[in-house]
Amino acid sequence: MNAASNHRPLAGQTALVTGASSGIGRAIAVGMARAGADVVVNFVGNEAEAVAVAEQVAAHGVRALVHRADVSQEAEVVAMVDRAVQELGTLDILVANAGLQRDAPLHEMTLAQWQRVLDVNLTGQFLCAREAVREFLRRGPVPQRSRALGKIVCISSVHEVIPWAGHVNYAASKGGVMMLMKSMAQELAAQRIRVNSIAPGAVRTPINRDAWSTVAAYEALMQLVPYRRIGEPDDIAQAAVWLASDDADYVTGTTLFVDGGMTLYPGFERGG
Ligand code: BGC
Repeated sequence: MNAASNHRPLAGQTALVTGASSGIGRAIAVGMARAGADVVVNFVGNEAEAVAVAEQVAAHGVRALVHRADVSQEAEVVAMVDRAVQELGTLDILVANAGLQRDAPLHEMTLAQWQRVLDVNLTGQFLCAREAVREFLRRGPVPQRSRALGKIVCISSVHEVIPWAGHVNYAASKGGVMMLMKSMAQELAAQRIRVNSIAPGAVRTPINRDAWSTVAAYEALMQLVPYRRIGEPDDIAQAAVWLASDDADYVTGTTLFVDGGMTLYPGFERGG
């Protein structure tokens, strides 16, 4: 789908994208707008960046709402969803994207580093999903807008299955997201709420700048990527739009790996 496309599979819907001021979240917010959805642009730190994303969203002729909230704080998440409903009418789509890394070798990792990553990456997804589901159930079905009562897309990582030395907090959080997503999908399917994950591989964003910003680092990274290119944020955005659309109406409880083959055991290209 390109910017000139008039295919708007999410027309009339409202999407909340957490962590939307940069990286993958930013691309997803713009992708949702391009597909016709109004977008709540959540951010926690950088308001100027969030406002810039909202401008890009609005350029697609939809409404944008910029809202600051730390997704790990229950009261802030409740207030965010309340405001979205007040100002935009309801919520049809949640993209639980906000996430961070606090890397350290295990023997040096502080409890604070462990806790912050689990709080944002896992508890944050739980809190946002819970509030979104409460709104889906309150609003009830609107079949002319979507066959589903609501859609949740969890942004996970290849590290929901690939162990990651030096990043045990992050890998544990994403392993948790996998079972959170599947258990929610099982619990909510009867209500016609679809819950899926996207597991990005190495995507060109600020979170992993060290892994792609020099030629040597990029070459080393490509040893882990059979498709031999880094992912771009829009690779993830296109997958998110599809999962949120009725084109994916029979898809629930699954993880879509968008990783250029990173999960294909690239070490086995030769040998074994
Ligand atoms: C991490 C990145 C990393 C990628 C592939 C992502 O989930 O946030 O730092 O480059 O996984 O290892």
